Amino acid sequence: MSGPEPVVRTVNLVKIYQTGGVPVTAVDGVDLRVDPGEFVAIMGPSGSGKSTLVHMLGGLDTRTSGEIWLDGKRVDTLSESAWAVLRRDKVGFVFQFFNLVANMTVADNVELPALLSGATPRQARERREYLLGALGLAERADASPAQLAGGEQQRVALARALANKPSLLLADEPTGNLDSRNTRDVLRLLGEVHRDGQTIIMVTHDARVASLADRVVSLLDGQIVDDGAIPRPVRRPRGGAGDVVELRS
Ligand SMILES: Nc1ncnc2c1ncn2[C@@H]1O[C@H](COP(=O)(O)OP(=O)(O)O)[C@@H](O)[C@H]1O
Ligand SMILES: [Mg+2]
Repeated sequence: MSGPEPVVRTVNLVKIYQTGGVPVTAVDGVDLRVDPGEFVAIMGPSGSGKSTLVHMLGGLDTRTSGEIWLDGKRVDTLSESAWAVLRRDKVGFVFQFFNLVANMTVADNVELPALLSGATPRQARERREYLLGALGLAERADASPAQLAGGEQQRVALARALANKPSLLLADEPTGNLDSRNTRDVLRLLGEVHRDGQTIIMVTHDARVASLADRVVSLLDGQIVDDGAIPRPVRRPRGGAGDVVELRS
């Protein structure tokens, strides 16, 4: 293999649910490679396997066959307890149904993952202040999760997922419940951490959200049907200095 060690690599990854009488193939032979610092959007119709794929990448669901590698380590064969350690140190999650710890403040919820993975209290506090500030939640630091609106809880879940600067951020529709202003805050923060080198895999329905990514992977019936870089529009200055210079020259 060439290039940097990928953050994520899957080899012929398959998930078949056997819950009812009829087996359902949710993920059907996915080969995916995500390099350090990439921001990948996963798109596709409802039921195409997006959530199942990211759940397996985070060890929240077991694969039926195939391989999953994270940071060069094979992880699909790990025990539940080994996965717990890996998630603590390497993987941040934002899912639609987030679990904030009810009897801890917002601030403590966000600081906890950083403390658990070895940050000093001061480092954890500074990271929490940055993240909550960026998401417009600084004044909610002392609230308990039950006092928050749904959109606020979702943003706290994002702050918590980023607290320990994970190798990989997995997000399943992170703007699903948000109004446009909060969506903008979330996207701005994702853009910022991405510029700082954060690797992100994000499921989204929204083409505007996906346009923030470097690359879009499209799923259909559990298979990758398209995988390509997003062309960057050429930025034209909106009025202002550029025009003035042109007028004067
Ligand atoms: N726990 C489950 N048990 C049985 N079938 C499931 C389960 N979770 C998802 N599926 C099925 O797997 C397929 C993919 O689902 P999902 O990964 O949730 O798709 P998406 O996130 O793209 O909407 C669907 O057909 C869905 O009904
Ligand atoms: Mg889904």
